[in-house]
Amino acid sequence: MVTFATQSAQVFEESLSDLMRTQVGIVGAGPAGLVLSHLLHLQGIESVVLETRSRKYCEERVRAGVLEQGTVDLLNEIGAGERMMREGMVHYGVNLRFSGRTHHIDFRELTGGRGIMIYAQHEMIKDLVKALLASGDRLFFDVEDVSIRDFGEAKSSAKPSILFRKDGKAQQLTCDFIAGCDGSHGVCRPSIPHGVITSFERIYPFGWLGILAEAPPSSEELIYAYHDRGFALLSMRSPQISRLYLQCQPEEDLDEWPDDRIWQELHARLASTEGWTLTEGRIIQKGVTGMRSSVIEPMQYGKLFIAGDAAHIVPPTGAKGLNLAVADVRVLARALAEYYSSGRQDLLEAYSSTCLRRVWKVQRFSSWMTSMLHRREGENAFDHRLELAELDYVTSSRAASQTLAENYVGLPME
Ligand code: APR
Ligand code: PHB
Repeated sequence: MVTFATQSAQVFEESLSDLMRTQVGIVGAGPAGLVLSHLLHLQGIESVVLETRSRKYCEERVRAGVLEQGTVDLLNEIGAGERMMREGMVHYGVNLRFSGRTHHIDFRELTGGRGIMIYAQHEMIKDLVKALLASGDRLFFDVEDVSIRDFGEAKSSAKPSILFRKDGKAQQLTCDFIAGCDGSHGVCRPSIPHGVITSFERIYPFGWLGILAEAPPSSEELIYAYHDRGFALLSMRSPQISRLYLQCQPEEDLDEWPDDRIWQELHARLASTEGWTLTEGRIIQKGVTGMRSSVIEPMQYGKLFIAGDAAHIVPPTGAKGLNLAVADVRVLARALAEYYSSGRQDLLEAYSSTCLRRVWKVQRFSSWMTSMLHRREGENAFDHRLELAELDYVTSSRAASQTLAENYVGLPME
């Protein structure tokens, strides 16, 4: 099979006849699209991934970095886990800090030995892209004007297709199915006719200001801190790089946050009475993200299947976005494999309902973590006391700690 490791116009021209037809057309090369393409390849199912951004952009975009055990196992299964196993950091717990004291939630003990892997999402993307290109599967960056058509009838013999431009030239990719893995601003979900889909949404009245700093992490494991001044999180990317977050306004102006102010606020919110100190370093990246929860129902329409952020958004407090995207495509890959091997369509028909059971449980967890750990503007003293009581309960009751732990390491796959 032709390998498209280089994206020169010439290589692309040579591949045009290959490109015109595939079994599964995948829109979007985020975690959902890339993992899906790998899983299909393992089952002998051909796919083409189309991505509007450049390879460089996708491989450098800073996102979260917590992988559930199930996500780690899956990356190993598809042969993209080698560097992650070498460079990623396995954690067997997290810390909750409030009223200046730190409480450890011991995943290993509470979940029968399970843990999480700290490995930046963009590093995972690099590994997935590299392995996909090496396996000869087809992946195209820098495509433009993507649109989809003829996907609405599950039983019709009409083939869906994806129209796009590459190097200015109009192309059409015909396929059996389309996977809409194009994130929250993609084209697939909005292409479904009005009235078919119900959207559920909650917008939070705050955001996160995130930084990457050249500073050794000040804690071996993550610290989620609840403070009168607002939430803060200490995370990491490597033994040399810390990742830190502060609760802020959803549309916070970064110009109002010079480095000194960021460190001052982190010191205040992460302060502890236990002799702990925060190590500072040069800030190498800064950004603000708003926070919301959303879900669409159903996640499919005819021969179009929506997966990952295109179907649901979770607030980052539980670090679930990436893991949920991977869980969706695992369900989709299994259903497609069943269809191609036996002609059975029941798993494909059940795709949305199978995924949504997990999606809502993860929404519940992410929303619970978010409301427990953040301060709301104008929040009354009663709510404040309730948040503290919730934290006290979670860290002092084994049953409550176990609830947090089993959700954090990842609920079992169906
Ligand atoms: N055509 C092709 N690609 C598109 C289009 C389009 N019209 N629109 C968007 N895309 C691409 C985006 O550029 C992006 O690379 O789809 C990809 C979607 O990737 P993600 O946003 O990462 O979504 P997903 O794969 O579902 O992963 C969800 O990743 O970043 C996190 O918070 C997110 O952790 C969550 C997880
Ligand atoms: C991160 O490391 O970016 C991170 C960790 C935990 C979260 C969210 C983000 O809950």
